[in-house]
Amino acid sequence: MLLTTGMGLTLNLNYSMIDISSSVNILTDNKLLQIQQPGIIYLPKIEDPRGNLSIIEEENHIPFKIERVYWIYDVPGGQMRGGHAFKTQQEMIVALSGSFDVVVDDGIIKHTFSLNRSYYGLYLPSGVWRHMQNFSTNSLAMVLSSTHYMDEDYIRDYSGFLKYKERHE
Ligand code: TYD
Repeated sequence: MLLTTGMGLTLNLNYSMIDISSSVNILTDNKLLQIQQPGIIYLPKIEDPRGNLSIIEEENHIPFKIERVYWIYDVPGGQMRGGHAFKTQQEMIVALSGSFDVVVDDGIIKHTFSLNRSYYGLYLPSGVWRHMQNFSTNSLAMVLSSTHYMDEDYIRDYSGFLKYKERHE
């Protein structure tokens, strides 16, 4: 997997992991504008004996302008959410509390990202199928989105998603 930063720096990365220490440098230099692959972004964490603090600034710690924030909570044990893809929408998913898995599928490769730290932001570009599962008790999933809600942006049918990928590769 290639992670390309806004300054033309290209990192050769395994699909499963963005190099977290590199990401910190990229993020603090405000160069995170052209990431095109799913991956976990290590958000700033300000440790404090009074309690830790993390931050997301649009177009700084995430590569898009935030137009919408929604959150998923009170998920009963064993339930799954979000089996769909988006044509244009980009997202960042953060487990603000508890843990859950996000299964991401680009039409060829599936990968499961386990979100269990509130300073991990899972970046998802448009055009990937994803669902969320294994929600822990009291987990809270925050989703930052690059667009307002648009039903026409959803692809809810997996075979339709594969056809969409074929047409857009
Ligand atoms: P949806 O994104 O389809 O969630 P899931 O894939 O987990 O089922 O959203 C569920 C419902 O909520 C759907 O009827 C649309 C509505 N919804 C909004 O009205 N606005 C939003 O921003 C979102 C995310 C969903």
